[in-house]
Amino acid sequence: MRILITAGPTREHLDPVRFLSNRSTGKMGFSVARAAAEAGHSVTLIAGPVALPTPPDVTRVDVVSACDMLAALQRLLPAHDALVMTAAVADWRPKICHSAKLKKRGMAPVLELEPNPDILQTLKPEKGGRLFVGFAAETGDPLAEASRKLAAKGLDLMVANDVSQPDAGFAVDTNRVTFITPDAPPRPLPLLSKAEVGREIVRWLETQSERKAKG
Ligand code: CTP
Repeated sequence: MRILITAGPTREHLDPVRFLSNRSTGKMGFSVARAAAEAGHSVTLIAGPVALPTPPDVTRVDVVSACDMLAALQRLLPAHDALVMTAAVADWRPKICHSAKLKKRGMAPVLELEPNPDILQTLKPEKGGRLFVGFAAETGDPLAEASRKLAAKGLDLMVANDVSQPDAGFAVDTNRVTFITPDAPPRPLPLLSKAEVGREIVRWLETQSERKAKG
């Protein structure tokens, strides 16, 4: 398969030195990319700003903002069979990005924001027969929210995780996730390394793609 993966946070600049972002380190997405390449798939990884080495045999495209990530995806999606969106895309960006560093004296005390595009929603019309996988990092009721997003974004698989747990979610090497699909009961996985979660996702993609091929 030709698998496109996004990873890491996005950064939304308000001037050349300041930005809004989030706690994502890219570990989960890089693990999916490594597992997919090790399984012999052709892998393109679109990475937000992260401090991780590119896994072997993976083509990497670096981006900064949500709009950059969307543009890269629109360019690359047609040549791929599956999309795995692990990226923690910033939902908002500063309304104005200043080209020179803001001085504290001239700075307004209120930062005006505008919404970023929802990348998965924007790509939905281009989905065709491709498999789309999303990630839902939740601190409330992970399953209910993840199921809602699975349907709203028209996904084949939503990987839900509760990021309020210390051994799951951001910046750690383990994750506790549940696979949610449109037509089967949720499948909770035990506490696994992110490498193992990556391999589970790749196995799920392979099984689905074989099922699709058989019709
Ligand atoms: N996502 C996206 N575009 C955005 C925000 C999120 O494509 N602007 C993707 C993420 O990469 C992830 C999925 O949507 O695969 C769910 O992301 P999440 O942040 O959990 O959901 P949101 O739709 O942003 O909802 P909320 O922030 O209100 O929980």
